[in-house]
Amino acid sequence: MRRALPALFAALGLASAATAQPAKTGPAFEETKYGVLPAPKDGKKGPTSVSQYTLINKNNLVLKCIDYGAIITELHVPDKDGKFADVVLGFDKLEGYLGGHPYFGSNAGRCANRIANAKFQLEGKEYKLFANNDPHTLHGGKEGFDKKVWQGKATLTATGPSVTFKRTSPDGEEGYPGALAVEITYTLTDNNELVVDYRATTNKTTICNLAHHSYFNLAGHNAGDIKGHEVQIAAKNYTPADGTLIPTGKIEPVAGTAFDFTKAKTIGSDLEKAGGKPVGFDLNYVLDKGTTKRPELAARVVDPKSGRVLEVLSTEPGLQFYTGNFLDGSNKGKAGVAYKQYNGFCMEPQKFPNSVNTPEWKDKSDVVLKPGDTYKQTTVYQFSVAK
Ligand code: BGC
Repeated sequence: MRRALPALFAALGLASAATAQPAKTGPAFEETKYGVLPAPKDGKKGPTSVSQYTLINKNNLVLKCIDYGAIITELHVPDKDGKFADVVLGFDKLEGYLGGHPYFGSNAGRCANRIANAKFQLEGKEYKLFANNDPHTLHGGKEGFDKKVWQGKATLTATGPSVTFKRTSPDGEEGYPGALAVEITYTLTDNNELVVDYRATTNKTTICNLAHHSYFNLAGHNAGDIKGHEVQIAAKNYTPADGTLIPTGKIEPVAGTAFDFTKAKTIGSDLEKAGGKPVGFDLNYVLDKGTTKRPELAARVVDPKSGRVLEVLSTEPGLQFYTGNFLDGSNKGKAGVAYKQYNGFCMEPQKFPNSVNTPEWKDKSDVVLKPGDTYKQTTVYQFSVAK
């Protein structure tokens, strides 16, 4: 059942990061106009209008997302005292997302993470990609899934309000073979979960590895650095990488390294030791559970100050943990906040980076998708408060 809610959503005061406990309004959803894309230079098509979908669950958690990039723009969750804050980095307006940004709230695809030297071989043929992370390809290429307009449709499901974005990536787009029909579904359940479901099918053998790329700050998007957040990751191993973040192909134990999050520790405690250029965590964990049919626990993050807890569960074998090392204040986000280094973290369940060029991982992390098969991923971001 759809409800027209403009007055109620306005009453929630969702423009600010911290909001008072709103009156009961959910579960519900609403579609509104968000902005207009500039007319393409070829002059063939007119301007495209971009919609925003607002989902509100029975506990008044609010998720906002847009059909440009299927990007999550806002996510309001309560702290231990029931006070709401917007816990994802992003922009107030479409112009922010068009102006260049490091994948805030996006879905990386058709192949998330890095592909070494922007090329791969499939069934004996070499495919060349755009080297947007010179000399490598990152998160899909020059115009990844984050820069495409999707077809959105919201509904109220038995578990909570939901929106599905559909798009077919044409054969040859960004150099990848096969027309890939993709569906991204966000459900804001009445159990305070953001469930991200991906489905994809192809008409030619291709590669597919999708990853959700929201930057979280459990204290609020405008609350400064996340060094005090406590993180636990269910992985005894990781994939070491070279200086350009291409994995060496080895799988090594985290024990005795700064990357060991098998027991909860703050992000700040071993941040300097993590190394890298710029310094910080930006690596793929080999989740102990491997690939699973149902989402299983991958990571748990606690912000001791607000008491907000985020648990990440996924079907995927890998987890890229990234601490916003490249944020440098140049992105002026919501309410004009300049997002600086370590102001947000990403928990991106996915297959391992550069899997297509790493045959030794075939049994653990296969990114090849064939006609007749369906790529499926479910990742759950579960919110609660520390007891
Ligand atoms: C990668 C980072 C990259 C960032 C871009 C993350 O998924 O791990 O290396 O800089 O995306 O926003």
